[in-house]
Amino acid sequence: MSQLSTLFDATKFTKLATTANGTHVSKQLPEKNVVIQLDQVSKSFALPAGEQFDAVKDVSLQIHSGDIFGLIGKSGAGKSTLLRLINLLERPDTGTVTVNQLDLTALDKSALRKARQSIGMIFQQFNLLQNASVFQNIALPLKIHGGLNRAQIAERVQECLSLVDLADKANSYPSQLSGGQKQRVAIARALASRPAVLLCDEPSSALDAETTRSLLATLRDINARLGVTIVIVTHELSVVHELCEHVAVIENGVIAEQFALADNITPRKTSLGKELVHYARFAQSILELERSEKQTSRQFKLPDQSEQQGWHIQQPPRELAYV
Ligand SMILES: Nc1ncnc2c1ncn2[C@@H]1O[C@H](COP(=O)(O)OP(=O)(O)OP(=O)(O)O)[C@@H](O)[C@H]1O
Ligand SMILES: [Mg+2]
Repeated sequence: MSQLSTLFDATKFTKLATTANGTHVSKQLPEKNVVIQLDQVSKSFALPAGEQFDAVKDVSLQIHSGDIFGLIGKSGAGKSTLLRLINLLERPDTGTVTVNQLDLTALDKSALRKARQSIGMIFQQFNLLQNASVFQNIALPLKIHGGLNRAQIAERVQECLSLVDLADKANSYPSQLSGGQKQRVAIARALASRPAVLLCDEPSSALDAETTRSLLATLRDINARLGVTIVIVTHELSVVHELCEHVAVIENGVIAEQFALADNITPRKTSLGKELVHYARFAQSILELERSEKQTSRQFKLPDQSEQQGWHIQQPPRELAYV
């Protein structure tokens, strides 16, 4: 997988260009646009005893348009705080946050509210309004922001529900939905105002393995079809491995390491970075075993019973114990 991904990654930034004499050359394209930029951002919290706790310390970070960017780290490392700094749910004490070429830290309240329409967010516990229907939950941000009439809102809600494959659930209430369906409603709500960026704070932590896979497929689809840049906080290495293009490892409020998942040359510095490499190897060997099992059963046309007694392939564990 890694080799293939490296190739794939490289092709993103190069294309064949035709020179004046008609020959084709490989040309380096300019870097993809930066959609999120944090410059020397810090955030401290006041502790009850009157001291200060520095949750995020002087962090600078660039995330490019169309990326799926993972923030990983131990519990309490500052991942959620860093994520919430991107839409200014947490206002930084120092530093600037620029999203879509707008310095959010310089905006007044109403300009910030408008700018936030381009930043959707989903949470571990879905955060849906329990006494509102699925339709009303998704329509709410559109009503708050204004600009659309009732018919336009209804049309957009249905569009978003179709995007997450829940077109038939508009009149259901959150209590009537499974965890995975609730998270899809949350995604539909986050996408309603056509954001450029989707922030996800542990979106699969409350879901089982199969529902997580389907959620990841939805996020991948949204990224590919709509070009939405995704920033995801997760403690699951499998989620990082399956979904992310780039990763930052957060330790004690700083970025300890940052890398492209497809980069299998640069040695990893952090223990989590190394664990991801091990995970990728593990997942790769499982994949190869599964392939060879399929080949064997094709070659020898194993009867059903023999198949059951053959390889019993387990999915790689969803998470390795680093929290
Ligand atoms: N409002 C707050 N008041 C005081 N301390 C806070 C506040 N929010 C976060 N912290 C502290 O900041 C640190 C980072 O918190 P944060 O929620 O960003 O961690 P995290 O990496 O997301 O952890 P987890 O994986 O457990 O969610 C923690 O030590 C936390 O206790
Ligand atoms: Mg957190």
